[in-house]
Amino acid sequence: MEAPLQTPVFDGEGPFRAVLWHESAIDPLFDPAEPERWFAPEERAALAALGLNAKRRREWLAARVALKSLLVADGVARRPADAIVRKDARGCPRVVVWEADTGRYEEIACSLSHSAPFVFCAYARGRAAAVGVDVEPRTMRLSFLRRKFLSPEDRMLPKDDAAGDDTLIWSFKESLSKLLGTGWGCGFPNLQCRETDPGSCELVDAAGVARPGRYRWFGRWAVTATWQSPEPPAPPAPLPERSLFDRLTRASRLRRLRAARRLAAEASGFPATRPPDPF
Ligand SMILES: CC(C)(COP(=O)(O)OP(=O)(O)OC[C@H]1O[C@@H](n2cnc3c(N)ncnc32)[C@H](O)[C@@H]1OP(=O)(O)O)[C@@H](O)C(=O)NCCC(=O)NCCS
Repeated sequence: MEAPLQTPVFDGEGPFRAVLWHESAIDPLFDPAEPERWFAPEERAALAALGLNAKRRREWLAARVALKSLLVADGVARRPADAIVRKDARGCPRVVVWEADTGRYEEIACSLSHSAPFVFCAYARGRAAAVGVDVEPRTMRLSFLRRKFLSPEDRMLPKDDAAGDDTLIWSFKESLSKLLGTGWGCGFPNLQCRETDPGSCELVDAAGVARPGRYRWFGRWAVTATWQSPEPPAPPAPLPERSLFDRLTRASRLRRLRAARRLAAEASGFPATRPPDPF
């Protein structure tokens, strides 16, 4: 399949939205003379810190313009500069939506990936949802390195495409490492990837937690995503059992309160309770 300029991927498959963009898709949108239309001051400082490396600047810009465009199109942010991509000490990004005029503030999990000329990015929908994504070109290099990242539990369905499978397993492990926020630090051989249906995998982290994953090929590029659904809402906590002593003292506190209100009302000349509505 030909790789498009901008396309949603895995729509409706999990609690996230993801888009694949060709880097050139940002050219009609982003004017380098007006970076403030897209970026908050802290992001412009992060861009300046990248220096003059043109490839790095372009992938950085493309990933963020793609993500912010998606957030604005989905009505999550009103303006691109209101959705600020911030990273933690390990490099894991999140979106902070901050609208100064309405005072709205929200933090959203997101994930970014670049592999020229493509960028792939996603944000999670719903509190406590998380997503990790990756775009990876199919390459023989990963087959030479497979012993460094495979686990004995990794299994792909038979399709006579060892290089494609190695690319997918690597890419899924990158996606999972991004969801976990660790990057390579989690040790890829500790992660497991099992293809359950064509295009669907189960990813298991080092703690044994399993999450779903999807992949799709665009020409020789694989895109992968894994996600974590929001926790189901906790059932309401049961009301505490009151002891007989509690109930008796509560009743006497209520009687004293009512008497005090009656006295205050008599002193002020107003009735203690609202008179019945005449209509
Ligand atoms: C995350 C990682 C696997 C990405 O792999 P990659 O092939 O280099 O790059 P990709 O294009 O697929 O992804 C890059 C994006 O991953 C994201 N990323 C980086 N570190 C991340 C982390 N710890 N968790 C989640 N996402 C992370 C970033 O958003 C980055 O995009 P940006 O630079 O435009 O913000 C790899 O860069 C990594 O392990 N980084 C962590 C390195 C580290 O341990 N740093 C310690 C700093 S104290």
